[in-house]
Amino acid sequence: RKGGFAHYMLKEIYEQPQSFYETIRAGIDEHVRQMVMEADEITLVACGTSYHTALAFKYLAEPLCNIPVRVEMGSEFKYFTPPLRGLAIAVSQSGETADTIAALKMAKARNCPTLAITNMQGSTVTRVADETLLMRAGPEIGVAATKSYTAQLAALMEIVNLRCEGAFDDVLSHAHLAIGDVLLQDINEAVALCSKAEHVFFVGRGAFYPVSMEGALKMKEISYVHAEGYAAGELKHGPFALLTPETPVVAVCTPGPTYGVMASNIKEMKARKAPVIALGVAGDTELAEIVDIFIPIPNTHLLVQVLTASVVLQLLAYHTACALQRDVDKPRNLAKSVTVE
Ligand code: F6R
Repeated sequence: RKGGFAHYMLKEIYEQPQSFYETIRAGIDEHVRQMVMEADEITLVACGTSYHTALAFKYLAEPLCNIPVRVEMGSEFKYFTPPLRGLAIAVSQSGETADTIAALKMAKARNCPTLAITNMQGSTVTRVADETLLMRAGPEIGVAATKSYTAQLAALMEIVNLRCEGAFDDVLSHAHLAIGDVLLQDINEAVALCSKAEHVFFVGRGAFYPVSMEGALKMKEISYVHAEGYAAGELKHGPFALLTPETPVVAVCTPGPTYGVMASNIKEMKARKAPVIALGVAGDTELAEIVDIFIPIPNTHLLVQVLTASVVLQLLAYHTACALQRDVDKPRNLAKSVTVE
């Protein structure tokens, strides 16, 4: 059933071009379209990996579609419910996460129109929410979310595209090709560095900040290497004290308004002797020269870079966990769906 792969997680990582494509192809039905188009503000509630996709949505939707977006952790939202306006979206792969469901119910009780983004037809979130946008990831067996994460991004990027009147139709319908390309990327040197480390930092700016948080979560949960995801500019406000030659920093640095400041952040980390693994666009020799290990991702649209960088970080966590002989598909102390608060 693992189709020749050593683990379900690896199989599911490799299924991402297809699950992303299927989710895009399925599109958005008329009821959901209307709901999304009518919203003048969006609040997303989610936990764990789904919280990271929700946060990535905020970083993409606010500048690209000029709509205010708020992102809340399900577990906090229930007890500290902010004043709410506009559309509430629950993002949950399983559709059964207790905290996310509780938050969704609170939003509903406050008369917000509610939308569930989930991989599970008929799950609890679909019964609570007014409408559902179904991801087409197919069953995910590995405890760590991989293809459900990129399928959530597919669904959320579709919402961005809808609000931008189809400006990204072409980008989204070809994104699976770039995801396929990075699956073949050689990351052995980076894996060797991370599997020797006790701590690893993941940093990025803008949409790459939640991508970094997700990279760190994957690393922690399956390899048990302590990892932290940070907004790159925050490292100097404390965590710099932890940088040593044994503490790798994985930095996502692609062209755009934050490229220059990211490059100077990387130089500051190098000055503190931390080995830097950088994800940058193919052909960026300037970046490759200032870092220890350079991992190229295709030079494409920001939306696609968010996907490809995330997939490289999944592979980094996966291969690091394998090098450390961890139980990749069933990490200790974790369950696939968290149905208690
Ligand atoms: C991490 C992971 C968890 C889930 C979280 C929410 O790999 O899978 O962090 O993302 O438990 O689960 P869902 O999306 O089912 O609500």
